[in-house]
Amino acid sequence: MVVIVGAGASFVGISAVHPPTAATASTGSVAPAADPPAFNMRKYTLDAPSSRWVVVDKLRPLNPRKYEPSDLVRVSIPRTFSATIRREANTALTLMNKEFVQSHPKYGLVVHSGYRSYATQKAVWDGDYTLTALPGYSEHQTGWAVDLAGKNGKCAIYECFANTTEGKWLAANSYKYGFILRYPKGMQNVTGYQFEPWHYRYVGTLLSIEMHNRNIKTLEQFFGLPNAPKYGVGGH
Ligand code: DAL
Ligand code: ZN
Repeated sequence: MVVIVGAGASFVGISAVHPPTAATASTGSVAPAADPPAFNMRKYTLDAPSSRWVVVDKLRPLNPRKYEPSDLVRVSIPRTFSATIRREANTALTLMNKEFVQSHPKYGLVVHSGYRSYATQKAVWDGDYTLTALPGYSEHQTGWAVDLAGKNGKCAIYECFANTTEGKWLAANSYKYGFILRYPKGMQNVTGYQFEPWHYRYVGTLLSIEMHNRNIKTLEQFFGLPNAPKYGVGGH
């Protein structure tokens, strides 16, 4: 028994790289190989706005609607104006930018928008339901989301950012730092928003690596939540 527990524990570090497929039955072995421990889907709550796994979409407003994070810090990388995000996300963002610049010395990331309060979100809402969230429904209000561009400003907050050096690198590498591309292409029926290649959401590496390894693109699909193409009845 102790041996089996130990063998299972030895898989912890690489559990994320195993696809969740059924193993072929082994024959003749004394002790069957232990499966890697299942990913704990409930490690963090999806509901509390302070949770790094909180899922905010058109069916899942922040609760309370006027929530404000308690540990906002000014972002440590270049920004277009005074932007703040939560401390843990800032640490990850700083490392991500550092490693991007190390491999691409002529480039660099710039934050266009980080935390937005309920009041700020109200002010930025542009009337397009597929591009901007209503106040109380934006990931930016959690302090876990950033809109990123390159320091050269190319395609900043435009869909063509996806084709830039920065946009491509982020799409391929952000998961290593705990970020996910929250509004992927072709997922509007799930997320409620058009492709936003600039909007990254910090969820922590435990989840971002698991989503990457299982090739699941949205939080709604990963956690088995309903598609959120539209606001619910009475939702706004
Ligand atoms: N642009 C994203 C959806 C927001 O407003 O939160
Ligand atoms: Zn955004």
